[in-house]
Amino acid sequence: MILSIPDVLSHQQVAHFRQVLATAPWGDGKVTAGYQSARAKHNLQLPELCEESRQLGDIVLEALNRNLLFMSAALPQRVFPPLFNKYEGGGSFGIHVDNAIRPVTGTPHRIRTDLSATLFLANPDEYDGGELVIEDTYGAHSIRLPAGHMVLYPSTSLHKVTPVTRGARIASFFWIQSMVRDDGERTLLFDMDMSLQRLRQQVGDDDPALISLTGCYHNLLRRWAML
Ligand code: NI
Repeated sequence: MILSIPDVLSHQQVAHFRQVLATAPWGDGKVTAGYQSARAKHNLQLPELCEESRQLGDIVLEALNRNLLFMSAALPQRVFPPLFNKYEGGGSFGIHVDNAIRPVTGTPHRIRTDLSATLFLANPDEYDGGELVIEDTYGAHSIRLPAGHMVLYPSTSLHKVTPVTRGARIASFFWIQSMVRDDGERTLLFDMDMSLQRLRQQVGDDDPALISLTGCYHNLLRRWAML
């Protein structure tokens, strides 16, 4: 499932991010790429352990914790500390699949990348190109979202970023290890949760069928979650 999550960050937060990132120590993006993807990757990235990455990354993690749509869709077990990248002057990232396992720099932890996320920090009118193109069984989906919005997609997907021919495309990106590893199971739980929330509005909290269906959701989650 490819999901757009609106307003993960407020306008004020995006403005703060842009101010901090304007003077941040951008370096070559190849540092976190695997062997195959390094050849395809042409962008700038903030060092993982720099002050700016940590400070802004913590704000992203806090925002995710409060975001019910993200929680329901990702069922996160671990979130990789958010990274930041910038594409400008023709910068692009050719088609690739993200590495399956990522060591978390500076810690003994690794995460399995079940979901990939891009949180847009520049508005679409600030740059040309820079589309995130994600392939799934329905074909290729081209994505450019307003600043503060985020796209979540299965890390198993082939994807690329097309060349930025004007301005700069600035974003945060990271991965999520989900409690539910399988995209099909996770999507089913998400659809069910969304329907239950709509149903609750219509029939109220005490409807016996709603209570029973809510139980089914939790029992499926109990069956599929790996902690
Ligand atoms: Ni990627």
